[in-house]
Amino acid sequence: MEKIIIFDTTLRDGEQCPGASLEAHEKLEIARQLVRLNVDVIEAGFPVSSPGDFAAVKSIARKIKGPVICGLARCIKKDIESAGLAVKPAKNKRIHVFLATSKVHMKYKLKKAEDEIAKLAAEGVRYARKFTDDVEFSPEDASRSEKDFLYRVIEEVISAGARTVNIPDTVGYAIPEEFGALIRDINNNVPNIGRAVISVHCHNDLGLGVANSLAAVKNGARQVECTINGIGERAGNASMEEIVMAIKTRNDLFGLSTGIKTEEIYKASRLVSKLTGLVVQPNKAIVGQNAFAHEAGIHQDGVLKKRTTYEIMSPKEIGLSSSSLVLGKHSGRHAFAEKMKKLGYTLSGPEVEKAFERFKVLADKKKFIYDEDLETLMEEGAGGFSETWKLVSFRTVAGTDETPVADVKLRSKSGIKTAEAEGDGPVDACCKAIDKITKTKGEMIDYSIQAVTRGKDALGEVTVRVRAKGKDVIGKAASTDVVEASAKAYLNAVNKLIHKEGKRLRIEI
Ligand code: KIV
Ligand code: ZN
Repeated sequence: MEKIIIFDTTLRDGEQCPGASLEAHEKLEIARQLVRLNVDVIEAGFPVSSPGDFAAVKSIARKIKGPVICGLARCIKKDIESAGLAVKPAKNKRIHVFLATSKVHMKYKLKKAEDEIAKLAAEGVRYARKFTDDVEFSPEDASRSEKDFLYRVIEEVISAGARTVNIPDTVGYAIPEEFGALIRDINNNVPNIGRAVISVHCHNDLGLGVANSLAAVKNGARQVECTINGIGERAGNASMEEIVMAIKTRNDLFGLSTGIKTEEIYKASRLVSKLTGLVVQPNKAIVGQNAFAHEAGIHQDGVLKKRTTYEIMSPKEIGLSSSSLVLGKHSGRHAFAEKMKKLGYTLSGPEVEKAFERFKVLADKKKFIYDEDLETLMEEGAGGFSETWKLVSFRTVAGTDETPVADVKLRSKSGIKTAEAEGDGPVDACCKAIDKITKTKGEMIDYSIQAVTRGKDALGEVTVRVRAKGKDVIGKAASTDVVEASAKAYLNAVNKLIHKEGKRLRIEI
């Protein structure tokens, strides 16, 4: 099968994404994962752009073995020298030179006429060849360039020694049919095109980066430039995981392969997200947290009967252990019964029915259903879980020069009780006052807060994990006041502990 060269530019175009700047050691860590993925080319940076980027590219060139290491350069001597020097330590090195060929770029940005651009492009390639035989040329903004001029530049840079000509859709303007036709036309109209590999580099401004890249592949492109998670300038670049999985999954259509070890995709996505701080949207194809999750009852039932009813890829192919059946208000009894079995409950048909009814009531109220919720649901039986203690009110005093203190008032069946306690902060003081009243001694081992609505008056949902007597319980509550949400979440956990340990603890109330 013919192979598509995967040119990864996460560390160059990806890093150009606003707010994504990476330190040299972080670039190296990502480069190591790109080696595990088995990419063919790593574009490690734009060496002339800063001393830090030069050092990062050089360190990758020195330490990373396997892929070709590439540095970007404008068609300017000092850029090419800098890129040449930075990639020098690599066994296989490439210099990628670029110069814009569209009218708007030539007239307003470069202020140069066609003849001069063609001459500079060829000179740039010839100069880069002094540093390495592997030179790539990009006519920037190719998709908006006059075709005849584009053919001329491509022919001249190939004659000057470019082994790869990369056709960028720099501003993400192209439409798949049109971009595919452009690649076909280049193949048919550039006399010496057989001496170079045609590459494509598509941006995602219209959300078409991957579609354009695949259309190009269908029409003869044999290198694709892409990034992990699709990060990159503005709306990003074509996403590597989407391109690779499309070529793999629709092999019937493409008849091509990549060398990518797809089982490393998920790890690569997590790493890039962690180091760049760019969160992956939940519904992102291939690597989003919902990409292999099913909530709708009909889908869950289908997947349980035969995975391929609703999954075109196996999660294992990208390095995930399994798909997930998310229990929520859309779930059906099949998935619910499966989950209960996994949690260790053996339920008869009527028992499943009863538990499922209670589950649906809970799912209507709660966005996320955790295992603990299901356990509580089972322990409650038909009776329902009634909270022993309810928060009546609280008051906290805290400040930079004050010891935080809280007054808490709780109600139980036997009346109202109050307590005052000091703590490390207002939340801690509230929890200590709750401990005093409920005579529990819980250890808060996890605390998280998440905004569940937007704006200044956002509703904050607090989740706590409390450990007492070797048992962990989760408490949850939401409020626009974070201290109140925290106190209520802690009390929710305490109530669960009391409920679980009720008989043994004999809590005095
Ligand atoms: O988008 C673009 O045109 C580029 C070039 C440098 C290839 O990133
Ligand atoms: Zn780009």
